[in-house]
Amino acid sequence: LSLRPGTASPAPVLACTRWGSSGSGNSGGGWGSGQHPRSYAPQWSHMLAGLLAGTGAVLAYGLHQNQAEQAATTIPPASKTPFPIFSQEEVYKHRTPADGIWVTYKGGVYDITEFVAMHPGGSKILLAAGGALEPFWAMYAVHSQEHVLEILSEYKVGELSPEDQKQQSASSSDPYSTDPPRHPALRVNSQKPFNGEPPSEILSENYITPTAFFFKRNHLPVPKVDPATYRLEIEGLPNGPVSLSLEDLKSRFPKHTVTATLQCAGNRRSEMNKVKQVKGLNWGIAAISNATWSGVLLRDVLLDAGYKSGGTAKHVQFEGLDKDVTGTTYGASIPLGKAVSEEGDVLLAYEMNGEDLPADHGFPLRVVVPGTVGARNVKWLGKIILSEEESSSHWQQNDYKGFSPSTDWDTVDFKSAPAIQELPVQSAITQPAEGAVVDRSMEEVTVKGYAWSGGGREVVRVDVSLDGGRTWQVAKLRGGEEDEPPPPPGRAWAWKLWELTAPLPEDAQELEIVCKAVDSSYNVQPDSMAPIWNLRGVLSNAWHRVRVTVNEDAEDEE
Ligand code: MTE
Repeated sequence: LSLRPGTASPAPVLACTRWGSSGSGNSGGGWGSGQHPRSYAPQWSHMLAGLLAGTGAVLAYGLHQNQAEQAATTIPPASKTPFPIFSQEEVYKHRTPADGIWVTYKGGVYDITEFVAMHPGGSKILLAAGGALEPFWAMYAVHSQEHVLEILSEYKVGELSPEDQKQQSASSSDPYSTDPPRHPALRVNSQKPFNGEPPSEILSENYITPTAFFFKRNHLPVPKVDPATYRLEIEGLPNGPVSLSLEDLKSRFPKHTVTATLQCAGNRRSEMNKVKQVKGLNWGIAAISNATWSGVLLRDVLLDAGYKSGGTAKHVQFEGLDKDVTGTTYGASIPLGKAVSEEGDVLLAYEMNGEDLPADHGFPLRVVVPGTVGARNVKWLGKIILSEEESSSHWQQNDYKGFSPSTDWDTVDFKSAPAIQELPVQSAITQPAEGAVVDRSMEEVTVKGYAWSGGGREVVRVDVSLDGGRTWQVAKLRGGEEDEPPPPPGRAWAWKLWELTAPLPEDAQELEIVCKAVDSSYNVQPDSMAPIWNLRGVLSNAWHRVRVTVNEDAEDEE
């Protein structure tokens, strides 16, 4: 293994993957041990764990980490000795730390035992033990990048026999091949699974985000669900389980429509990344959108299915029909109180913006939990479980939680923090864009954006500054249609768009435009990201700042 001189490849940090005691069963020279800062190891262990167990966010983190931390280390070339040949059967014998943990990838056999031992949450990584990585990497295709392969190559111990290679390639297929087409204007954060956000100015142009531009956040391939055979299973009720068809839901319960904004916990993560690298997709300001959702109230369905208050259940768990290679489904839960409250407005939605839910947004049925972080709005809903416990899913337990800026990947204890439910107050500037040029001859500047708060707290004010926060002006807020009544207190589920047109400050050659929103509990956004930085880059809601330059020349030319 060698670094190509003069390339800008982010591969050099590969060296950091070799830590701890001298390797057993790894090819390559003895350059790893003791030469590289030990502090890199946990970050990389999380990264490769993600590659194997399939958390796309982990890789995204790794990629940024790569760019941020290029180590100036020269790696000696690997030995040219040919590798021994192993059969799949032999590889399969290596599935425990005692026997060694082996995986195969594109005909190579890799002993990752040493790496697994370093992984704090070791068990998930073992899912790939004794078999092929391809199905995992097909799920998270972003992992199939050159430098990732170089990391893996450090652990190579042999070649898979040609017969077994043939068999493997015959059985592997792309689980994303049936994903729906997407609008080309979406800014893609990851193709497989698909994660994309609209150009931000589109957000403020439409109070209801057109469906094609609504941000899309998938952890797994989009499942293909036949509406004719679809069933929603409900468990944990006193009278036993209930199974409902789509037709049952549509015909037996009143239809409700709720306008609600969905925001991903990672919206605006890219700004947190500027403070210090975090782990996760590099969302801009548009992992948030607003839609009308129609369907049945979860409360109505639960009551009909036999739910009675006073039981032991405290949470309502949701399982999606999207699965990873191990059959594990996406899952999340919300507090029971929110689910059954008359004022919670939690929907089992089958329509979005007046049409059947599109495949990307959960066809044929999704949960819409107004005021609650996107992650709990489970798409392709397959099962509802009333339980004393929260969902045991990775996304409820070990993700989507907030931590102190002092918590790092060495010290984080996911059990110590509650799962994010209601989101904090948020706002951002959608126009003008960062780096835009405003002509002095225009004499004024128009600033637009969105503002929203979680838990049904209405945005009551947005303050805008053109001078970095020294002086402020109040923006004009816009809710739904003019004739629409305001939402009842505590049930403001939809965002407000806002706008301010102000004279261009005299003499200013550059404007630092800032916005901050205030919600009905008088919560305000923090002024900067550093004090709210957290290792997962969630809850990123500091004042949004955009720098634009004032073009004086345009006036002279006229
Ligand atoms: N539900 C399922 N079944 N699978 C998922 O990957 N992603 C969640 C949530 N529900 C997800 C899911 C996350 S993290 C978010 S932010 C929202 O869906 C995004 O919803 P959208 O794609 O309709 O915008």
